[in-house]
Amino acid sequence: MTDRLDGFSARLVAWQAEHGRHGLPWQHTRDPYRVWLSEIMLQQTQVTTVLEYYPRFLARFPGVASLAAADLDEVLGLWSGLGYYSRARHLHRCAQTVVASHGGQFPRTADLLQTLPGIGRSTAAAVASFCFDERVSIFDGNVKRVMSRLLAFGQDLAVAANERRLWALADTALPPPTQAHTMPRYTQGLMDLGATVCTARRPACDRCPMVPLCGAHAEGRPEAYPVKTRKLKRSSITHWVLWCQRSDGAVWLVQRPAKGIWSGLFCLPLFDDLTHLQAAVPGVDGASLQVGEPFKHVLTHRDMHLHPVRCELGSGEAPHTPGEWVPQAMWPNLGLPAPVRTLLTARR
Ligand code: ADE
Repeated sequence: MTDRLDGFSARLVAWQAEHGRHGLPWQHTRDPYRVWLSEIMLQQTQVTTVLEYYPRFLARFPGVASLAAADLDEVLGLWSGLGYYSRARHLHRCAQTVVASHGGQFPRTADLLQTLPGIGRSTAAAVASFCFDERVSIFDGNVKRVMSRLLAFGQDLAVAANERRLWALADTALPPPTQAHTMPRYTQGLMDLGATVCTARRPACDRCPMVPLCGAHAEGRPEAYPVKTRKLKRSSITHWVLWCQRSDGAVWLVQRPAKGIWSGLFCLPLFDDLTHLQAAVPGVDGASLQVGEPFKHVLTHRDMHLHPVRCELGSGEAPHTPGEWVPQAMWPNLGLPAPVRTLLTARR
C-alpha cells in the first residue's frame, strides 16, 4: 500500500509551488506566534472569515506578551463571531504559559508544543513544520481525505485506532530528512490539495498531481473515501431571549457561566419558555412585551431556535434576572455571541 507514497512528497512540493495558495497573510512568516494564531483560528473557521479577524487580532496583540497580558474579556471580544470560544480561552492561557514557562518563546518541537493549552498533535505539527522545518505530519480533515484516497484506506476513521494507523502512514509520506527544508511547502501543499482539488464532493481528479499514485482513483471511486460511519446527531433547542433596553440605549446583559454554550460571553438573558421570561419582568404587562420574529442559529451539533422578546424599561428599573446594564458604546468590545450581536445591531 505504501508503494503509493513513493514520490508523493516531491510531487506535492512541486505542485504547491506552482498551483498552491501563496497570498494568505499567515504565510511567508516563520514567527510561531503568527502561525499558531492562524492555525487556531482556522481550526473550525473558514479562510474567508479568518482573513477578516486575523489582521484585527494581530493589530491589537502583535505578540505573545501582549496577548498574555490582556484581559480575557478583551480577547473574547476580538474573537466574537468566530465561535467555539474555548479556542479563545485556550489561546489566552497558552500565551500566558509561553510567557511564564518558556521565557516568551514558543517551544521549537511538535512534542513540546503539544504540551501547551489548546495545541493538539495536528496543530503542533503545523507550527513545527511551518516554523522549524520539523518532519511531522498534520492530520486535519484535508489530510485524512487526501491520504485515505491515495492509499484506498478503507478502514473506518470513526475508530480511533484506524485514525492512528492512517496518521502513521501519513508520517511515512513526509519528505526525506535531506528535504526537511521543504516542510513548510509540503504542509501547505497538503492543505491546499485537500481544499482545492481533493475536495469532499466532486474532487477535481483531472487537475490532481497524484492521479498516477492514487488508489481511490484507480478504483474509480474517490468519493468512497474516507470511510467514516459515525453520523452527526443533530438536536434542536429553543431559547426565549429577553432584550431589555433602557431609554438611553443600554441593554441588560449577563455573562454566561463558565460551562456550556457561549461560556464567558455576554448575552441577553435566556429562558426556556415565555412564562419564565415574563416572570423576570414584573410590573410589565403582557402588552408592553414585544415578541419578535423567531430565528434559527445553526451550531455544529444543534439548531438553536431563538425567540427575541423586547421590553423597554425606565431609568430606575431593572429586570429580575442576573445581569447589568451595558451601554451601547461598550458592545463592540464585548464578547457577544454572533446571533446576539446581530440582533442588537440590526435594530436599535
Ligand atoms: N487551514 C489550516 N491551516 C491553514 C493554512 N495554513 N492555510 C490555509 N488553510 C488552513
